[in-house]
Amino acid sequence: MSRLIVISNRVSVPKAAGAAGAQGGLAVALNSALREHRGIWFGWSGQETEEFTGHLNMQRIEGVTTATIDLEPQDIDEYYNGYANRTLWPLFHYRIDLTEYDRNFGEGYERVNARFADSVLPLIEPDDLVWVHDYHLLPLGSMLRQKGVKNRTGLFLHTPWPPTRLLVSLPFHERLVSSMLEYDVIGFQTQEWLESFIHYVSKELGLPITEDGTIDYGGRRIIARAFPIGIDFAEFVEGANSAEAREAHDRLKASVRGRKLMIGVDRLDYSKGLGERFESFGRFLTDNPGQAGDVVLLQIAPPSRGDVASYQQIREDLERKTGHINGAHADVAFVPIRYVNRGYPRSHLAGFYRAADIGLVTPLRDGMNLVAKEFVAAQDPEDPGVLILSQFAGAALQLADALLVNPHSTEHVSETIKRALEMPLAERRQRHEKLLASVCDEDVQHWREEFVAALFGQAEGGGADDTG
Ligand code: ADP
Ligand code: F6P
Repeated sequence: MSRLIVISNRVSVPKAAGAAGAQGGLAVALNSALREHRGIWFGWSGQETEEFTGHLNMQRIEGVTTATIDLEPQDIDEYYNGYANRTLWPLFHYRIDLTEYDRNFGEGYERVNARFADSVLPLIEPDDLVWVHDYHLLPLGSMLRQKGVKNRTGLFLHTPWPPTRLLVSLPFHERLVSSMLEYDVIGFQTQEWLESFIHYVSKELGLPITEDGTIDYGGRRIIARAFPIGIDFAEFVEGANSAEAREAHDRLKASVRGRKLMIGVDRLDYSKGLGERFESFGRFLTDNPGQAGDVVLLQIAPPSRGDVASYQQIREDLERKTGHINGAHADVAFVPIRYVNRGYPRSHLAGFYRAADIGLVTPLRDGMNLVAKEFVAAQDPEDPGVLILSQFAGAALQLADALLVNPHSTEHVSETIKRALEMPLAERRQRHEKLLASVCDEDVQHWREEFVAALFGQAEGGGADDTG
């Protein structure tokens, strides 16, 4: 079996089973994938150093070998806070109003990608498969090629891919996308993002797409496909049945004193639609005065990317909205929104999900959204909660038996909350059974196997033999 060299911006391994888990879908998925596969996870340590040395810090944590480098403050500013999170993240989530175009960011991005390439190079052996992740590292494959790496290399993008009309607002967009064409496999979360990418490649770069869907790039065939990511179902269910999960469940249940409970769990990110979610709940409380004291929303939102102004703004905005809605609808012994800015161990999260009558997952745009899948996996099949899911999350394609909503419409979300609260047990069970089958079958192992098979050139629509 070939070794897997996984490369992502951040390396995030939970230090112990009980510790607050890695936050973000990528970290959670990669931890499970790497535990199954012999290999190394390379990336930024999250630490800064005065002067970049490329020194590799190797560790073995919880069955995963990691190799990390520290970055200079200017790198962190221009590459991570800059091009990755002020330019590509908002653009890829259709927010050109928040997208900043600064030449220094682009230069920092290329510099750090080159630093990644130099640092990881000595770790790569001839038979290794190289698997690069996410928008931070789009040009890394081409930089590795320039340094002589001949290995099969793949890229998986955890975010959406924007429509061509938005992407062309990015200066040097052709240069960025062309650099991605040195990968052998390019994976997306959904067919929709894949189609946008293929549209760009054929319309803007003028490249032929072959009948089997591969991209013909100067005689090389590049596999571009959707590989919807899943959760580690078995691990999550085990956690959901643990004593810690039960304890967390009982504590939360007791605290709501027989009221209905809705739960949201998201990084504090404007793409997650938290402001719209709070407004929708406020509307529900106004429109249904009879139920106003009977429903609680628990929103867990650990802060994310706090050096970026748009993240500071969303945080302030949510604090204002929470205060406003609680001020209008709270009573002496009741507060409708519980807003919590911290991380929890995954077993505790599982217990919280299970305690909830409704999972409220309403991003404005999301590559996939693993929280929706975790909510389903954590439910009691005899008495399951209802998942309300944004139609704009990648997960909506697989979880079509959730109650799908347009998160921009506070009326629609408010009415759907009412419908979920009133849903008869038989319908809840029926929907949950279908959702569970999808979450269980298309889990993270399935995702990894499919991607790795494509990387080996074994998947449908292959074309690997043409790759030089
Ligand atoms: P994203 O990758 O954009 O953050 P996802 O929903 O795909 O969104 O993944 C988020 C992951 O982070 C989930 O596995 C979720 O359980 C985890 N997570 C989010 N908030 C917390 C928290 N407060 N404590 C622990 N884990 C969290
Ligand atoms: O899944 C999207 C993602 O951007 C991951 O790449 C990342 O690890 C996660 O969200 C958390 O973001 P950050 O590493 O910027 O805290």
